[in-house]
Amino acid sequence: MTTLAAAPRLPMQTKNWQTKLLIDGQWVDPVDGKSFETYNPATGEVIAVVAEGNAKDIDKAVQAARRALESGPWSRLDAADRGRLLFKLADLVEKEKEQLAQLESLNCGKTITDSRGDLEGVINTLRYYAGWADKIEGKTVPVRGSFLSYTLRQPVGVVGQIIPWNFPLLMLAWKWGPALACGNTVVMKPAEQTPLTALRMGELALEAGFPPGVINLVNGFGETAGDALVVHPDVDKIAFTGHVDTAKIIQKRAADTLKRCTFELGGKSPNVIFADADMQQAVDGAFHAIYFHGGQCCTAGSRLFVEESIKDEFVRRLVEKARQRRIGDQLDPATEQGPQVSREQQEKILHYCDLGQKEGARLVLGGKRWGDKGFFVEPTVFDNVADHMTIARDEIFGPVVGILPFKSFDEVVDRANKTYYGLAAAIFTKNIDKAHLFARAVKAGTVWVNCYHVVDTTTPFGGFKMSGQGRENGEAVLEHYTEIKTVTIKLG
Ligand code: NAI
Ligand code: MG
Repeated sequence: MTTLAAAPRLPMQTKNWQTKLLIDGQWVDPVDGKSFETYNPATGEVIAVVAEGNAKDIDKAVQAARRALESGPWSRLDAADRGRLLFKLADLVEKEKEQLAQLESLNCGKTITDSRGDLEGVINTLRYYAGWADKIEGKTVPVRGSFLSYTLRQPVGVVGQIIPWNFPLLMLAWKWGPALACGNTVVMKPAEQTPLTALRMGELALEAGFPPGVINLVNGFGETAGDALVVHPDVDKIAFTGHVDTAKIIQKRAADTLKRCTFELGGKSPNVIFADADMQQAVDGAFHAIYFHGGQCCTAGSRLFVEESIKDEFVRRLVEKARQRRIGDQLDPATEQGPQVSREQQEKILHYCDLGQKEGARLVLGGKRWGDKGFFVEPTVFDNVADHMTIARDEIFGPVVGILPFKSFDEVVDRANKTYYGLAAAIFTKNIDKAHLFARAVKAGTVWVNCYHVVDTTTPFGGFKMSGQGRENGEAVLEHYTEIKTVTIKLG
C-alpha cells in the first residue's frame, strides 16, 4: 500500500502516514489489494492513496468486532475503564489537535478555522461520553406479585457506522463516543472523499489502549464496503449519516436482518426573519446559517423566509456581506470559505444554480464556479424564490440561499413545515411569544432562536420526518446504543 504523497505544508506528513485498514488491532492490506486516491479539493491534486476495503475486509472486521464483544478483554472491562479509554483518547486528540485540524482541512476543504472548531467538538464529545460510561443504569420496576424485576442496559452489539465527508472527525466522534461508552464494538466506514483523519484516529485509539477488534476502520465506497456492513448478518446495528436517498437504500437492504438503524440525514431548514428582529443580528445569523462550511451542513439554513416589509433592506445587507466573503486556500487562516468537497458536489450545486434561474428565481449574487482550479463555488443568493421551485425543495448542500418573502406568522409556519425534511429551524425576532409559538409549531428536531448552528454534544440532535431516525448527542443517543433487558426473579 502506498503512503501519503508529498503535501508540503503539513509537518506531520514527513512521517510515514497510515493508509491501511484497521482490523483486529492491526493495520492490514485489503484482501483484494485495491486502493483509491484522495484529493485536496482546493486544487484537485492527489494527496494520498489509501487502502480500499470491500465485503471481504468488512467480513474480517465484523468477525474481529464480534470476538472483541463476546470474549475479548473489552467484554470483561468495567464500565469506568471504558470511560478511561475514551478520556485517554480525548487527551491524545487534544495533544495533536492542530495537526488533525490541518489534515481535516486539507482533505475535506473546510477552513482551518472551522476545523479547529470541529476539533474542540471532537474532544468535548469524547469526554462527554467517557463520563457517561459508568452512568448508564437500569431500573428496579414495581411489578405485580412476589417478584423482583429490574432492567439492564446492555450494548446492542457490533455496530456498523457509516459517516459522510462534511464533518469527518466530528461525525466519527459522535459515533464512537456513545457506541463505546455503552460497550459496543465498532466497524466504521468513513466517507470515500475523506479517509485520512479517521486513519489517524485509529492510530490514536490503539495508542489509547482500546483492545483489538473494539474499533475497526475500513475505508472504501458506499456501494461495496458500506453495503457489506448493512447486509452483514453479524452486524447488530447501523448508524448512518448522509443523504436521505442512501438511507432509504440502507433501510431496505437492512430489512433481511431486521437491523436496528439510526439515521441522521439532510434538511431544507427554514430560517425565518421577522420584521421585529434585530436587523444586524438577523443578517449575520442568516449569513452563518447558509455559508458556514460552504453550505455543506445538514442543518444549513437554505430556505430563508424574510418578512416582506424588511425584505429589500435585508437582501441588500446580506448580499453586501456575501460579496466580502474571502474565498481561497482552506489552510490560510484568513480564508472564510474553502472549496466544496468534490467536483461531484460542485457540479451538483452549479446545476441547482442553473435550475433556479430557469424556474424563475432572481439570481442576485454568485451562481458560478469561483476561480479556475479546485471545486469552489461563489456565495450565491436567489431572491423571490417560490415554495414550489426545486431550489426551495431539494437539499443543495452548497453556498446557495433562497429568499422567500412572507407576510404573516401563520402563513410562514405553514410554509416552513411544507417539506418532507425536519432537521432544524430558526427564527429571528424580538417577540418572545412568536419565538415560543414558532418553536412549538415547527416540525424540526432542533429550533434556534436568534442564533444558528449552535450544536452541543450535550443536547439531542436529529430529525423529524425524513431527516432521520433516532437522535445523536446528549443522553438521548444512549437508548440507541443499548438494548434494554428485563430480569424477573421469583421471591419467597
Ligand atoms: P451519501 O449518503 O452517498 O454518502 C454518505 C456515506 O454513505 C458515505 O460513507 C458513503 O460511502 C456511504 N454510502 C453511500 N451509498 C451507500 C450504500 N448504498 N450503502 C451503504 N453506504 C453507502 O452522500 P454523498 O453521495 O456523499 O453526498 C450526496 C448528498 O448527500 C450531498 O449533496 C448532500 O445533499 C447529502 N449529504 C448529507 C449529509 C448530512 O450531513 N446529512 C452529509 C453528506 C451528504
Ligand atoms: Mg452518494
